[in-house]
Amino acid sequence: GGAKPLAGRKAVVTSGPTHEPIDPVRYIANRSSGKQGHAIAAALARLGADVTLVSGPVTIPDPTGVNVIHVERAEEMRDAVLAALPADVAVMVAAVADWRVASAAGNKIKKKPGEAPPPLQLAENPDILKTVGHHANRPKLVVGFAAETENVADNGRSKLERKGADYILANDVSPATGIMGGDRNRVKLISADGNDDWPEMDKEAVAEKLAALIAAELERREQG
Ligand code: C5P
Repeated sequence: GGAKPLAGRKAVVTSGPTHEPIDPVRYIANRSSGKQGHAIAAALARLGADVTLVSGPVTIPDPTGVNVIHVERAEEMRDAVLAALPADVAVMVAAVADWRVASAAGNKIKKKPGEAPPPLQLAENPDILKTVGHHANRPKLVVGFAAETENVADNGRSKLERKGADYILANDVSPATGIMGGDRNRVKLISADGNDDWPEMDKEAVAEKLAALIAAELERREQG
């Protein structure tokens, strides 16, 4: 291809954590920084794609050249992703909270002397990757991540099938790896063709390599 192999292509990327409110001032969250998802959005844009990045709350800046939609909750993230379809490729990198508080309080929950702590009833959040992977408007390429602390390849492959993805980038996020929140990543690319272990590299380099792969795969599929 030419210098901009993704020119004319639309991409939707999710990144960061979600915040699930308990009440107006408290929430449930996770340690995702958004570094990997933001780097992927930027890399796709550099290759010429029209990129919509749906980001949960992060402290890193919006990447340049990308249309960024800021959301808080998983349900808002799902709605923004579906509104961005159709797209040629979806890359779901966000660490979406598996559960939300079933009914968040409208006012701050008050601590009352002598009363037991309030129970937190949880409800399951939508699985955005699975929704997109099985959607009538499914992008030609659907990519997910799988953060695991054990059985990385097996868990990644079962996610590939269950969620209807073309690729899963599986990584070991055990605390000793320093991947969660860090600048480096080591992923295993899982696809119908098998598993490919990528060496440890910067999250920027993972993003470049994935964007190049996406461009090559879209091109290959076009040629039949
Ligand atoms: O949490 P899990 O390991 O299942 O996440 C695997 C993939 O699914 C990731 O790409 C993540 O962004 C996506 N996911 C999602 N919506 C969820 C849970 C996970 O899009 N509710």
